[in-house]
Amino acid sequence: MNPMRSLLLAGSRSAWLQRQATRRKFVKMAVRRFMPGETLDEALAAAAEQNQLGLSVTLTHLGENIADKAEADAVLAHYLGTLKRIEAGNVKGEVSIKPTQLGLDIDAELCIAHLRTLADAARAHGSRLWIDMEGTAYTAATLDLFRRLRETHTNIGLCLQSYLKSARTDLEALLPLGPAIRIVKGAYAEPAELAFPDKKEVDDNFLWMAERLWSPEARAKGAWVTLGTHDTVLMERLELAARRLGVAKTDYEYAMLYGIQRGEQLRLVKNGNNVRVLVSYGVHWFPWYMRRLAERPANLLFVAKTMFK
Ligand code: FDA
Repeated sequence: MNPMRSLLLAGSRSAWLQRQATRRKFVKMAVRRFMPGETLDEALAAAAEQNQLGLSVTLTHLGENIADKAEADAVLAHYLGTLKRIEAGNVKGEVSIKPTQLGLDIDAELCIAHLRTLADAARAHGSRLWIDMEGTAYTAATLDLFRRLRETHTNIGLCLQSYLKSARTDLEALLPLGPAIRIVKGAYAEPAELAFPDKKEVDDNFLWMAERLWSPEARAKGAWVTLGTHDTVLMERLELAARRLGVAKTDYEYAMLYGIQRGEQLRLVKNGNNVRVLVSYGVHWFPWYMRRLAERPANLLFVAKTMFK
């Protein structure tokens, strides 16, 4: 792994660095490049702008590894309110949550009960509840949550990471369910025994996963694929595969992060592709922001420029 990427990912877990960074005004200003603001109102205003441009959104309230039940309950209440606001504002949007934000570290039963309540509410709103995939310490537990929830709710989607060596097996095991899967490359620091260190293998795995979800058997079961990437070279390969397999542009979507590859997002919409923007908001942005820096260490230059401004 690129040493700067490793350093930034290690930094994402440092409480000291978090205290320093979140106090600095220039860091907060730099974060705004990837996040419209800390409040739900700011996220919804950004969502309305995206909708007007023909993009749908996924809203995510930043936070992870909650250690206190009352906090997990508050996250649930927040997302229930968010779903109500999405409906009231006619926003073309869904929500995506992290299991550890809903209490997975405290008790898996608490987490699944909260997920069920949210999936019920999303179903009543006619939308899909997305489950993020965190580091490998949570992969098995998250797959288990998804499987259990899928027994009662079809309106749920799961993120799978193509950098994981286990991703193909995990996907194959889920295919009979006709699942909705968001494929991403993966954002955490993982050892080489578990994750491919080489970009080519990660990209090839991504394409392989999309092709499996586009296979006639998977599509007949109702599988859906969201392609969560900003990689334009990979997107070209994905488009070629979709055409070869006879998959219409309306039958899948791209998802990108707010503020990243903006031109590409709009170009895809113009080309008739479905595009979704992930809008993150909230005060707990530090680890998430460090992962964004790690994805493209050149982003650090932007932080430095903001400091000197
Ligand atoms: P790659 O990292 O190869 O980047 C390709 C190009 O995209 C770069 O050359 C650059 O131009 C641009 N780019 C990418 N990241 C950038 C950045 N931060 N700043 C500026 N430019 C950037 N991960 C995870 O582990 N669990 C999850 O649940 C999710 N969920 C998720 C949802 C959605 C909608 C997206 C788009 C991404 C995620 N991720 C995620 C993050 C994902 O795993 C991955 O780290 C990033 O998307 C970066 O990978 P790319 O596929 O963009 O390719």
